[in-house]
Amino acid sequence: MKIGIVGAGNIGGNLTRRLTALGHDVYVANSRGPQTLTALAEETGATPVSVEEAPRGAEVVVVTIPLKAIPDLPSGLLDQAADGVTVIDTGNYYPQRDGRIAAILDEGLTESRWTAQHLGHTVVKAFNGTYAQDILDRPRPAGAPDRIALPVAADDARAKQVVRALIEELGFDTVDSGTLDDSWRQQPGTPVYGLREGVDGVTKALAEASRERTPDFTA
Ligand SMILES: NC(=O)c1ccc[n+]([C@@H]2O[C@H](COP(=O)([O-])OP(=O)(O)OC[C@H]3O[C@@H](n4cnc5c(N)ncnc54)[C@H](OP(=O)(O)O)[C@@H]3O)[C@@H](O)[C@H]2O)c1
Repeated sequence: MKIGIVGAGNIGGNLTRRLTALGHDVYVANSRGPQTLTALAEETGATPVSVEEAPRGAEVVVVTIPLKAIPDLPSGLLDQAADGVTVIDTGNYYPQRDGRIAAILDEGLTESRWTAQHLGHTVVKAFNGTYAQDILDRPRPAGAPDRIALPVAADDARAKQVVRALIEELGFDTVDSGTLDDSWRQQPGTPVYGLREGVDGVTKALAEASRERTPDFTA
């Protein structure tokens, strides 16, 4: 599959490593330009590109940059992606890092709904509670007793299925965590955030989430 990755940090870099290893055709971008991504390109075989180029013709686009940088992305970023492109949002909102965002803090918009509005395209929320290193260290074959599960939230059922299949190919189980409006259940500070458990543990943690945010996330 042709996959564009916008953001080449902890998560974007490790997704580039694993997705290329699985044979996907990966185009990866960061804020400083493709000339700063030669080491990652040599290591993985991914193609370093500009942010504008990363989504071109891509069937899946992963947006994995700090939430505060989302509004800086070029407008029409996804216009040249493949028809029906699936967009993955790995982001989390940390007020201390990302600044005060009233729509999230005061109006209760979920973080991924806010990101989708800025992108002008619906997203699938995935990987947001996954330690970046686990993408490399924790893949397990289907059925392995220690295979961990990741929650996946989206409004678009087809896009959700595309992402669930991709995550399963990466070596993890998935749990359907509902729509983007339900996705507060997997935001920072919730029981499932950072949880390393299988389908049953993740399902239970999602059910136990409280809409009340912890003090770290109410600044
Ligand atoms: N780290 C984790 O374990 C983890 C786990 C789950 C979810 N997340 C979430 O996933 C997101 C990414 O996290 P991360 O840890 O991978 O971040 P990171 O290591 O800080 O990397 C951020 C990447 O985004 C790029 N970037 C920043 N602004 C950009 C812009 N305007 N246009 C294009 N690229 C831009 C940076 O490029 P430059 O280096 O060139 O500036 C860098 O490649 C965050 O929302 C984070 O909360 C992180």
